[in-house]
This record gives sequence, C-alpha cells and structure tokens, in this order.
Amino acid sequence: MRALGWNDGELLILDQTRLPLEERWLHCRTVEEVAEAIEGMRVRGAPAIGVAAAFGVVLGAQRAVEQGRRISAAVGEAVARLAATRPTAVNLFWALSRMEKVAEVAGEGREAAARLEREAEALMREDEQVNRRIGRWGAELIPQRARILTHCNTGALATAAYGTALGVIRAAREEGKEVEVWVDETRPFFQGARLTAYELVQEGIKGTIITDSTAAALMAKGWVDLVIVGADRVAANGDVANKIGTYGLAIAARYHGIPFYVAAPTSTFDGSLADGRAIPIEERNPNEVLQVAGVRMAPPGASALHLAFDVTPHSLIDALITEKGVLRPPLPDAVQGLLRGET
Ligand code: MRU
Repeated sequence: MRALGWNDGELLILDQTRLPLEERWLHCRTVEEVAEAIEGMRVRGAPAIGVAAAFGVVLGAQRAVEQGRRISAAVGEAVARLAATRPTAVNLFWALSRMEKVAEVAGEGREAAARLEREAEALMREDEQVNRRIGRWGAELIPQRARILTHCNTGALATAAYGTALGVIRAAREEGKEVEVWVDETRPFFQGARLTAYELVQEGIKGTIITDSTAAALMAKGWVDLVIVGADRVAANGDVANKIGTYGLAIAARYHGIPFYVAAPTSTFDGSLADGRAIPIEERNPNEVLQVAGVRMAPPGASALHLAFDVTPHSLIDALITEKGVLRPPLPDAVQGLLRGET
C-alpha cells in the first residue's frame, strides 16, 4: 500500500480524506496543488508530507523550465509555499532543506530539474528503507503475544511505505509474533478508525477500534501490553510532539505500568529545539471538531478548539525506536548521542 506515487512529472496522492470509502488518486502538477493537498490532509503523516513536499519542489522546478524561468527562483517560491502548509512535523522542513541544498549546486535548466527529481526519488526510497529498519529494531521490543494500543495512523499511508509505529507492528507480525491492535479512533480526523483500521484489514492483522476515551479503561482492565505511537517532531531532550491525545495515553500508560514506545526516523528529530515547549503546535479549523464527516453536530453558537498535536515529556517514554537503534532513558543523553552520530 502506498500514499504517494511519482509518474512522469506528476505527483499522485491517494486522497486520505476519502479513505476507506473511496480510493481516489489526485494528479498534482503544480506546487499549489501539492500545498493544498497537504493543508487539506489529503496526504498526512510526518514522513509522507516530507516526501510530498520534496516532489512539490520538483514540480516547481519543472514548471519553471517549461516557462523559461530560473529554477533557483522557482525553488525558493516552492519552498516558501510548502513550508507554510503545516507547522509541526519537522520532516516537512527537513525534506525542503534537503531539496534546497541540491538546488544550490544544481544550476539551471532541464538537467538541474532532473537532479532535483532524482533527489526526491531518493528521499522516498530511503524513507521506506528507514521504516523497515525501525520495524526490525522495534519488533525486538514486542513480546511473542501482544495486545498493542496505537494512536493515529503511522503506517504506509503516513510514510513512503511500511510505516513507523505501524511498521513495528508489521515487522513483529512478519517475525511470527501474535499481535492484536487496539486502534484509537483519533478524533477529530479519525486517522485510526479510517486509515489504521484500513491498513490492518488489508494486512490481515486483528484490529479493534476504540473511542479515544476508552484507552485508559482498557489499561485498567489489564488488556493492553504496550503502547506504540509515531512522532511529528522530537526535541533535543527527547520530548515528542505527536497527534493530540498521545500525551494522555503516555500518562495513563505510566500510571498502569505499561511500556510506552515512540517510533520515528531520525528525520523527525529536531536538535535545534532544546525541549518540547518550543515545538510549534498546529491549530486547525474548529469546524473540524464541530462537524463529523462534514455534518455539524454542535449547536449553533457553540465554539471549539482544535489543537492537532500535543507534547509528551521524555520522562514518560520508555524507548524511542529509530532506524539507528533503540534509545533508552535517560533520553536527553541518548538523543544527544544520536544527534552526534554515536548511535
Ligand atoms: O495530522 P496528521 O494525520 O498528519 O498527524 C500524524 C501523526 O501525528 C503521526 O503520528 C505522525 O505524523 C507520525 S506518522 C509516521
């Protein structure tokens, strides 16, 4: 399963706002189309929006060549537009800065655009390889039989392929472990109920959807063996920004003595931020909370707040699973080591 495809000058985006009811592919040929797809959550998940943005830059360069404009100017405009789409996932900025670095040395003309295209393709390929490595490291933490609780969607749909936290679940299953998944529905966008459930059904892994507010009750019953989630940005001390609701899960897991793991590639680590307080948290349109599937269910005059992410302090995290290995507490030291290239 894939969320993105590159086909001869077109970025194909599987429209995740329509899943699982309809598999509809968008054909993007301009920077603006890619930017709007990211803003509208048609493609979402930290690594996937990084890959989409990289191809957005390629499209900007290709249109510039067609119009006889300078690539360097077009790349600058593309990066500015794409960087303004969503603020929290650092993979977006990581991918854009990687493309900018290539543009700086690529020069102008058709060959320069082709070089940017090769870079975006490499970035997409690498994301899949990285996720498979995360999966292998993470699977070591999964017992032979495990009831795993996860939040949001961190699978193939949220990445170039395979997934991060869901990739760990996939890898455990590939190693012959008996895994069952509690799928948080993940209000208000239902990434769990719609997307994670869809991936699990396709993989034939047993998944049970629960409302977000059910998670702590299941932990109290002893029905959850571990929690694993993804990340949108990891600060230098190991604090993690992820989908709203993650922090509450981490608190509940610690209270019940249940391991709480985060799986993320090193492209999600932001060494420039000392701790999670500095991570920009996206606030989305309140209508996404006031409505369910486009139907308003709150009374006229009611207002809502839609924080898309929260920050889990490193002290609540039992392991950070990366493609380079598993980081264990004290996480501030472990993350520093990773950022220095010692892991
Ligand atoms: O708002 P979204 O759907 O883009 O949020 C996605 C998440 O929070 C994921 O957990 C995170 O990006 C990791 S995806 C491998």
